[in-house]
Amino acid sequence: MNLKEHIRSVPDFPKPGILFYDISTLLEHPVAWKVTVERLAEAIRPFKPDLLAGIESRGFLTAAPLALELGLGFIMIRKKGKLPGPTVPYTYDLEYGTDTVEIQEGAVPPGARVVILDDLLATGGTLNASVHLLRKVGGNVTGGACIMELTFLKGRDKLDIPFASLLQYDE
Ligand code: PRP
Ligand code: MG
Repeated sequence: MNLKEHIRSVPDFPKPGILFYDISTLLEHPVAWKVTVERLAEAIRPFKPDLLAGIESRGFLTAAPLALELGLGFIMIRKKGKLPGPTVPYTYDLEYGTDTVEIQEGAVPPGARVVILDDLLATGGTLNASVHLLRKVGGNVTGGACIMELTFLKGRDKLDIPFASLLQYDE
């Protein structure tokens, strides 16, 4: 099955000149979505995860069904101020300004093998920050995976973990 046929590309969203790859149409198609989850399961198998981390918000859609499929726990990396109780932040640089991701204290057992999931790797900034956050709380990040990778942005070069993507786009 060619999963690219189930992903809609929307020109000029969220800004003029940006081509947005939208997984809504993939999620709407139960067979294509099941195949996606199965292929992700195959892709991350070599990383031997103990638990999966999803990056808010589209990473939740990606990681949660995969965790269920693999019989693993799922933890959330969220944007600042969304998680209750004690949290640990990690702040990273953007082109203009900074952003912060957070995780709940105690979400990662010491030394746990964690694999990070998101829908899309673009510049790699979000995924790289998530790697650092998980390490800060004692996780052993053994890999990362996304449904889509914008290869022309070379986000993969920013990562110091093994990384897998199901679909590559060169524009
Ligand atoms: C998008 C996408 C990835 C990230 C990729 O999320 O879902 O998480 O950007 O970009 P990067 O590799 O350049 O960091 P977005 O911030 O749009 O939020 P959302 O998932 O909540 O829609
Ligand atoms: Mg996102």
